[in-house]
Amino acid sequence: MGRIIVIAGTDTGIGKTWVGCRLAAHLKQAGVDVRAVKLAESGTQVDLSGGEDGVLLARAAEQIRPNAALRRYRTPVAVAVAADLEDVPFDLDAVISEVRDIADDAELTLLEGAGGLLAPLTWKRSLLDVVRLLGADVIVVGADRLGTINHTLLTVMALSLTSAPPLGVVLNALPDADHRDASFGQNAKALRQSAAGLQVVESRSAEWEEVVAGWITAES
Ligand SMILES: Nc1ncnc2c1ncn2[C@@H]1O[C@H](COP(=O)(O)OP(=O)(O)OP(=O)(O)O)[C@@H](O)[C@H]1O
Ligand SMILES: [Mg+2]
Repeated sequence: MGRIIVIAGTDTGIGKTWVGCRLAAHLKQAGVDVRAVKLAESGTQVDLSGGEDGVLLARAAEQIRPNAALRRYRTPVAVAVAADLEDVPFDLDAVISEVRDIADDAELTLLEGAGGLLAPLTWKRSLLDVVRLLGADVIVVGADRLGTINHTLLTVMALSLTSAPPLGVVLNALPDADHRDASFGQNAKALRQSAAGLQVVESRSAEWEEVVAGWITAES
């Protein structure tokens, strides 16, 4: 099986897909046989839409399959909640087996979760279990804004309970530049000072994809 890297968020809407797409395109450009996959997506339309995470990721990695999230729910809530509301159970074991099949055919598979790390996929399991069951490495994505130090450290701590520490953290500059607070640009250093050995890169840095590619290579 090829390597699997889970892109885990500190929250929803902080840039996991943006980071995943940029990273997939960068790796592809560097000659890596990469796949980029969304495990499960909620808030989808009935028909596949070009704005869906799973579609954006597939396009970035230039893959034919999968061309969308492995499971899609209409209701824009956590997967376990959507599964209950729509009465369509989320069979995590089946989905994990699909991820393994995809990873078998690729050198590297980037796997985006849904929401933050502990958002429930079922009432018993979250992306943390997916990481453990797949033996995946993890890249954490957080927003470069006030509050991110706490959210990122909590995410790293949760990961350390069941798996290896993350390869690193991408602190993402969300596009709402008008609303940037005084912590913007300070959070990376603060995180490094708070957690010895934690690798952190800011997405505003021109070569951040290269830095993350270096983390991936260093661990292989
Ligand atoms: N660094 C960035 N530069 C420009 N736009 C960005 C950046 N990061 C995120 N965005 C935009 O912000 C929005 C939210 O980002 P994104 O969809 O990647 O978040 P997410 O964590 O994947 O959300 P979800 O939990 O819904 O999967 C998107 O419209 C995305 O294109
Ligand atoms: Mg996303």
